[in-house]
Amino acid sequence: MKIAPSLLSCDFSKMGEEIIRMDKSGADWMHLDVMDGHFVPNITFGAPVIKAVRAFTDKPFDVHLMISDPLKYADDFIDAGADIITFHIECDSDIDRTIEKIKSRNVKAGLVIKPNTPADSVFPYLDKIDLVLVMTVEPGFGGQSFMADMLPKVEQIKAECKKRGVDILVEADGGIGADTVEQAARAGVDVCVAGTAVFKAQDSAQAINYLKSF
Ligand code: DX5
Ligand code: ZN
Repeated sequence: MKIAPSLLSCDFSKMGEEIIRMDKSGADWMHLDVMDGHFVPNITFGAPVIKAVRAFTDKPFDVHLMISDPLKYADDFIDAGADIITFHIECDSDIDRTIEKIKSRNVKAGLVIKPNTPADSVFPYLDKIDLVLVMTVEPGFGGQSFMADMLPKVEQIKAECKKRGVDILVEADGGIGADTVEQAARAGVDVCVAGTAVFKAQDSAQAINYLKSF
C-alpha cells in the first residue's frame, strides 16, 4: 500500500518542515487538499502555497481539487508543481476537457467521487485517466469517520479496469488509519490518503510504516 499524508492535518505555520518530516517518515506522495469554500464548505490554500512548499521534497505532489471549476485553475496548479491532479466528477467543469488539459501538460489526472456518487460514473473515463480517488468521507474536513460502505465501489472500479485491461490506481481518502487500512487494502485500494492518523501519531514514521505494510 502506498501512503499519501494529507497536509490538511499539518501545522500550517511550518508547512515546509512538515513536508520534510513526512518525506523522512516514508511518505510515498504528499496529498494537498485544495478547497474553495464553494464546492465544499471549507477553504484551505491555493496554488501559491503549493508552489512555496514544492521545493521541500522530491516526492510526488498529489493535488486534490475540491473546487467548482478545476478547468479554470488547472494550469495554476500545474505551474505550482503538481504531479497528479485529481478533481471531482461532481464539479461544474467539462470533465473531458479538464482531463485533456491536465494530460496535455504531462501531469497525471484522476477523478474523485463523493460518497453519494456511484462507481460507474467514472467508467466512461477509465481509458483516459491515471487514477480514481474514492472518498471514504464527505469531502471538506479531516478527522471524520471512515465509511466502510464505500469499499464495494473500489471493488467495482477495480473489476471494470481488469475487464477492460486498463491499469489505473485506485486511491481512497478519509478516515484511514490503523483500524481501517486493512479493509481498504482488501478491497484493492492502491494508495491511501491519511491525515489525522499520520500527523497526530506520536511517531509518524511508525504510523506510515504500519499503514504501508498492508
Ligand atoms: C477531506 C480530505 C482528506 C482529509 C483526510 O476532504 O480530502 O484528504 O484531509 O483526513 P483524515 O485522514 O483525517 O480523514
Ligand atoms: Zn483529499
